[in-house]
Amino acid sequence: MKVLLLGSGGREHALAWKIAQSAKVEKLFIAPGNAGTQNVGENVDIKADDFEALKNFVVENGVDMVIVGPEDPLVKGVYDDFKNDERTKNIPVIGPSKAGAVLEGSKDFAKQFMKRHNIPTAKYETFDGTTVEEGLKFLETLKAPYVLKADGLCAGKGVLILPTLEEAKKEFKEMLGGMFGNASARVVIEEFLSGIECSVFALTDGKNYKILPEAKDYKRIGEHDTGLNTGGMGSVSPVPFATKEWMQKVEDRIIRPTVEGLAEENIEYKGFIFFGLINVEGEPMVIEYNCRMGDPETETVMLRLKSDIVDLFEGVAEGNLGKRDIEFDERAAVCVMLVSGGYPQTYAKGYEITGLDKIEDSVVFHAGTKMQDGKVVTNGGRVIAVSSYGKDKSEALQNSFTQAQKIEFTDKYFRRDIGQDL
Ligand code: AMP
Ligand code: GLY
Repeated sequence: MKVLLLGSGGREHALAWKIAQSAKVEKLFIAPGNAGTQNVGENVDIKADDFEALKNFVVENGVDMVIVGPEDPLVKGVYDDFKNDERTKNIPVIGPSKAGAVLEGSKDFAKQFMKRHNIPTAKYETFDGTTVEEGLKFLETLKAPYVLKADGLCAGKGVLILPTLEEAKKEFKEMLGGMFGNASARVVIEEFLSGIECSVFALTDGKNYKILPEAKDYKRIGEHDTGLNTGGMGSVSPVPFATKEWMQKVEDRIIRPTVEGLAEENIEYKGFIFFGLINVEGEPMVIEYNCRMGDPETETVMLRLKSDIVDLFEGVAEGNLGKRDIEFDERAAVCVMLVSGGYPQTYAKGYEITGLDKIEDSVVFHAGTKMQDGKVVTNGGRVIAVSSYGKDKSEALQNSFTQAQKIEFTDKYFRRDIGQDL
């Protein structure tokens, strides 16, 4: 079959790498892709949210399935757009409908959904411009630190954690005043939860689901989790505290109620659900939902998925995912992200990347790269994900760190402490 994958980051290169291994796939297109995805498929110069151009491409090229990597096209309704067009209505789009993507697109919706379905999450309330005073009073009932979340999508920047009540009140007013534009017209204030985070992923056809290997990501730029938040500096899988017993709690209290809740509310959801969890004294609680895979978690999770991912996608499309097998690789997998100096603030682009041909024991996924005059150059903050297997986490990390030294570009930076807190 012919498959079209949407997106252009490290997550998409990892998905493309896995899809290309399927015996069922005769042709893989990636729109728009990056300098890495062209090694496992054919890049197509169409933006992931240009639905008209995507549909034309799908029709003209006889594409049989569309897989959506990032949240943006999902929140904008790519699933519905394909479904509502006579020409593409029978082509499965792997990803939730616009209504389903609201789980990520609105923090307030996600919190209400969890409340309706008794899914464990932090206590919260939502406020807008008409309830500023109430919000300030609610803050006074909470203990420091204070968690403020812009309701809408802010490219991962919409959450503030403030150490004092005074700062929390000030930022709360600024958020409602337009700090994140329309995305913070409503603000969720929630109780702070203390624990270690873990990302759990499920693929669902709306009724059945399969749980993928869990992973932990490292969000801060600095070692020992210091400095600004980034899109993710590395990841590891498995996560030691995600034992069989813990994962059973996650399935019983979180995954199953979420899938059943979506079905009960008639929300079409045929794709990945990302559960951003926190382990609070042995009890999993939900920090957030995302309507897609995680980045850079996908760069380790794909290494640990043994089964044919396209077979699973067919299960999603046909509504018989329950009948498909899912197998994991017992080895550990890790990913170390090489980023541009200055990221997540200002950084330069266009530096040549060398040494990619010297990599031996790792799988290199491109994140922010592109081809320029026949050379691979940096084209983003996060540039290259160096993913490796190992018999355990330490061996996998050793592999990634060794290979990471071989790849060179001006002002390269990476965290050398990935996985060391576990
Ligand atoms: P989110 O965008 O909801 O994932 O939030 C971004 C980050 O803020 C999370 O990955 C957590 O590290 C942190 N965070 C969010 N909500 C809470 C909470 N209620 N308690 C503690 N940390 C939180
Ligand atoms: N790694 C977190 C995310 O993809 O949102």
